[in-house]
Amino acid sequence: MSPEAAAGVARRVVVAGATGYLGKYATREFKRRGYRVRALTRSVERLEQPGPFTAPAISRGDVDEVCVAEVTRPETLEPLFEGGVDILFSSVGISRQRDGLTFEQVDYQANRNLIDLCVETGVRKFVYVSMLGAEQIAHLAITRAHERVVADLEASGLEYAIVRPSGYFSDMGAVLDMARRGRVLLVGDGTNRFNPIHGADLAAVCVDAAEGTERVVEAGGPDVLTQREVAELAFDVVGKPVKVTVIPLWLAHGLARGIGLLSRQFGDLAEFIVTAGEVDGVGPARGETTLRSYFESLA
Ligand SMILES: NC(=O)c1ccc[n+]([C@@H]2O[C@H](COP(=O)([O-])OP(=O)(O)OC[C@H]3O[C@@H](n4cnc5c(N)ncnc54)[C@H](OP(=O)(O)O)[C@@H]3O)[C@@H](O)[C@H]2O)c1
Repeated sequence: MSPEAAAGVARRVVVAGATGYLGKYATREFKRRGYRVRALTRSVERLEQPGPFTAPAISRGDVDEVCVAEVTRPETLEPLFEGGVDILFSSVGISRQRDGLTFEQVDYQANRNLIDLCVETGVRKFVYVSMLGAEQIAHLAITRAHERVVADLEASGLEYAIVRPSGYFSDMGAVLDMARRGRVLLVGDGTNRFNPIHGADLAAVCVDAAEGTERVVEAGGPDVLTQREVAELAFDVVGKPVKVTVIPLWLAHGLARGIGLLSRQFGDLAEFIVTAGEVDGVGPARGETTLRSYFESLA
């Protein structure tokens, strides 16, 4: 326990990305552990609504303060650091957003804005969420953006922790949705293995990282599965026969390249989705919630 915690003084944390799947759980976990939580959002309404795939609504009791600002516009971020901040947690990044911005502008530059302000205002520690196995997919735009943040943090002089998760249960929820509709699309033959993790379990890992001394924290869930096994589990839970359509990798890469000619960002996103169908992503099992229990709660 830190000296502040022992003295009963709440440590002050900013959660950037608080409207997102992981950010909502992280906001609640920091609060549960006695932090003074300031959530950064560009929409109070989105913060207060439940997110997709069980991401919880953030109620007044889950936060001490809400700061409405644009993380991509550093000139709006001054109030975020008013009165001092001990820890900055960031899970800011593009997943389902369609703002017309690139990974470089959001996943890299927005987090870079936060690093600069942390250095300027004397924040003690930065906890950043990157990804597991970045070295296998270093050529992708999303990975380059994340790993530039990591490199900047290493050079910043701040205390930091990099959380490297496997896939999230939110993405598995999308597989359950397809199974409900009767057919799951798989990119590649679906034999690559990974161990996705529940947002609440990962949030606990993130707060542990904020409190610990490890600089790199890899994390996955309790079940190591292939993409095909995830699809089969989803069909089993919704009680439908297994129907899988495989999009061969050569075709998927071709489609991603075609999309890239129309929109660089959508092309980069498509290339990321296709590549996720090729590589393994198994991290230390730090989550406890099984994918079956999660699917059952959704179904
Ligand atoms: N999904 C996975 O399997 C996985 C695996 C490993 C790592 N990650 C990484 O984990 C991080 C969090 O993922 P997540 O699933 O929690 O993502 P998410 O639900 O999309 O949340 C992302 C957060 O970033 C914010 N954001 C995105 N674009 C923005 C913009 N233009 N301006 C301001 N804020 C913006 C979102 O705010 P709004 O709600 O206002 O859009 C949201 O708060 C991401 O960096 C992702 O790459 C994900």
